[in-house]
Amino acid sequence: MNTPMTKFPADFLWGGATAANQLEGGYNEGGKGLSTSDMITAGTHTTRRRITLELEPGSNYPSHEAIDYYHRYAEDIALFGEMGFKVFRMSIAWSRIFPNGDDTEPNEEGLKFYDRVFAELKKHNIEPLVTISHYEAPFALSKKYHGWTNRQLIDFYVRYCETLFTRYKDTVKYWLTFNEINILTLPMGGFFGGAIPPQESSELGTGADNMQERYQALHHQFVASAKAVKLGHEINPEFKIGCMIAYMCSYPLTSNPEDVLLAQNKDNLTNFLCSDVQVRGVYPGFAKRYFQEQGIQLVIEEGDEQILREGCVDYYTCSYYSSTCVSADPDQQQIGGNMSMGLKNPYLKASDWEWQIDPQGLRWSLNNIYNRYGIPMMVVENGLGAVDTVEADGSIHDAYRIDYLKQHIEAMKEAIGDGVDLIGYTPWGCIDLVSAGTGEMKKRYGFIYVDKDNEGKGTLDRSRKDSFYWYKQVIASNGEQLEPSHVQELRR
Ligand code: BG6
Repeated sequence: MNTPMTKFPADFLWGGATAANQLEGGYNEGGKGLSTSDMITAGTHTTRRRITLELEPGSNYPSHEAIDYYHRYAEDIALFGEMGFKVFRMSIAWSRIFPNGDDTEPNEEGLKFYDRVFAELKKHNIEPLVTISHYEAPFALSKKYHGWTNRQLIDFYVRYCETLFTRYKDTVKYWLTFNEINILTLPMGGFFGGAIPPQESSELGTGADNMQERYQALHHQFVASAKAVKLGHEINPEFKIGCMIAYMCSYPLTSNPEDVLLAQNKDNLTNFLCSDVQVRGVYPGFAKRYFQEQGIQLVIEEGDEQILREGCVDYYTCSYYSSTCVSADPDQQQIGGNMSMGLKNPYLKASDWEWQIDPQGLRWSLNNIYNRYGIPMMVVENGLGAVDTVEADGSIHDAYRIDYLKQHIEAMKEAIGDGVDLIGYTPWGCIDLVSAGTGEMKKRYGFIYVDKDNEGKGTLDRSRKDSFYWYKQVIASNGEQLEPSHVQELRR
């Protein structure tokens, strides 16, 4: 598949990605307030997580301890350093900095925690890539203001950004305003991403959907993001501030023109609506038509359109895990995927969590996106959620994960050969962490194993999987040595 001419650029940013609420723990330490993600219980592949309006005694809330990075970050960052990471994608927990969201002064202890994290990264020559809001907001904002449906959230978010931009002006260069902002285009997206609180405690993904509220909340996030981009550039013109989209690659199931149109429509509405606003600074025509057809009447205040135009992002990032199909035929078999269900593709195999594995879909997606925007891109999430077995000697032979990542790296290399300006790659969950979709620990993505099970039991000790040694070799060779044949030697 690989042509000898194609290489990763010499300064390619290899690394890994995480999010505060799935990693840190310490949910009520250091002056941190409750976050929307602290209210979500653990589930499994077949049992939905629940979002509760009060903390229920006896329920398991996986974000509360997560993998205890709050206390172990130095050890973890040293392991990232050992793998040769050039970049580390992390998020900041908003409620660590503004415990209630509407506080006038930031929480110094929270800021100091991230001072220490950034200092540790610097020690290992790792560039931070910071997501400002990764699927969480202070829970108090949900209660008091009904989350992002309220326009006041824009000001609270911008104040939070200003605090971060000023404090970390000389420490952080790469920022992302919102993780997977396009989740708000999906019916369950508002609750899942913590943007819109449910009326009552309920299973995640089952609350009543209100499209008007959902798209209004999204509009507020667009304005907040654009204001943050503008402000960030004023504070430090060297900042690179990007968008982050859950790229949902959807093929037409057949050559029936109806299927083809459906696939294009899904691509437009779920993927491109958000990035068109964030990259080009305007709502696309198809969005206006969609709003009209669905009876959605956005409140767009005077000046909002100018703000959007002035706050275009510097680069585009996305997550990519799998692909699905769409069809006009209602009787086709459904299958899961990151954030959205779709139809089964007869040519693809799926993971244990039913996400179809499709490396070529990544090449297709990168071309599709780059041909539209022509700005630098990063793949900031990609990976295989799988069950790992620890052998008697403590080793973990995760050949399936190596195989998945290898094929996706080859696909990225091809996309670079096609002309895509890809500048970085941070596979998801570089250290095992809590699954966002199911709340499980069992669904592991990491190069680093964390000894903790679904019930929360385990020593939390870290150990290196085979993929750890393999990825180290990939980074050292700048993506040239992808064969895992030497892993056992490297292990010694
Ligand atoms: C992305 C999210 O959608 O997918 C992450 O940004 C999430 O937070 C990742 O963890 C993988 O999904 P899951 O459900 O396997 O954790």
